Amino acid sequence: MNLIVAMTKNYAIGNKNELLFHLPTDLKNFKEKTTNKVVVMGLNTYLSLPKRPLPNRVNIVITRKNDIVLEGATIVHSIQELFEILKTYNSDNVFVIGGAKIYNQLMDYCKYAYVTYIETEVPADTYIKNIENVGFKLKESSQIMHENDVDYTFRIYENTKPKNI
Ligand SMILES: NC(=O)c1ccc[n+]([C@@H]2O[C@H](COP(=O)([O-])OP(=O)(O)OC[C@H]3O[C@@H](n4cnc5c(N)ncnc54)[C@H](OP(=O)(O)O)[C@@H]3O)[C@@H](O)[C@H]2O)c1
Repeated sequence: MNLIVAMTKNYAIGNKNELLFHLPTDLKNFKEKTTNKVVVMGLNTYLSLPKRPLPNRVNIVITRKNDIVLEGATIVHSIQELFEILKTYNSDNVFVIGGAKIYNQLMDYCKYAYVTYIETEVPADTYIKNIENVGFKLKESSQIMHENDVDYTFRIYENTKPKNI
């Protein structure tokens, strides 16, 4: 299992249930990395998507609500139930795509973190834990990109000892 996130250097990822930045190259990268894969997300993130479910991906949504139907998505009600379903997929093909509540519960189980590392700070209300505190180490970084007045790099972090699901 892997995670993919766009975060600022202060670990901010969202505001008012929206993304912090509009970065077309980042969205293209997200699509390339996750298409034909399994994407795991919390209900808030699912509801924030402009187009849902994400096309050409297995969409798995976590919520404690029992009475909800999301067309085109598989719903799970706990991390345990998620792990049971994930056992039927190759874990290399599973991407945790947010939001904070889900990253924070699942980052220990992820092998690679594909991070869009944003230098610019903006108002935010949603933050993730520091992935380096749970064992991720920087493996690769792109050149600095500049888009819509935002400086960022694409980074890959590796967790050498991910927990087993
Ligand atoms: N920058 C990025 O890469 C990125 C990526 C994704 C999202 N985001 C941003 O992150 C923000 C949303 O994050 P968030 O933390 O508020 O929400 P979230 O993680 O998307 O979803 C949280 C919801 O997931 C459900 N949930 C969480 N843990 C659960 C568990 N153990 N068992 C069952 N259900 C569980 C709950 O749903 P119920 O309340 O329905 O029970 C909870 O309210 C938005 O601003 C979004 O734009 C940013």
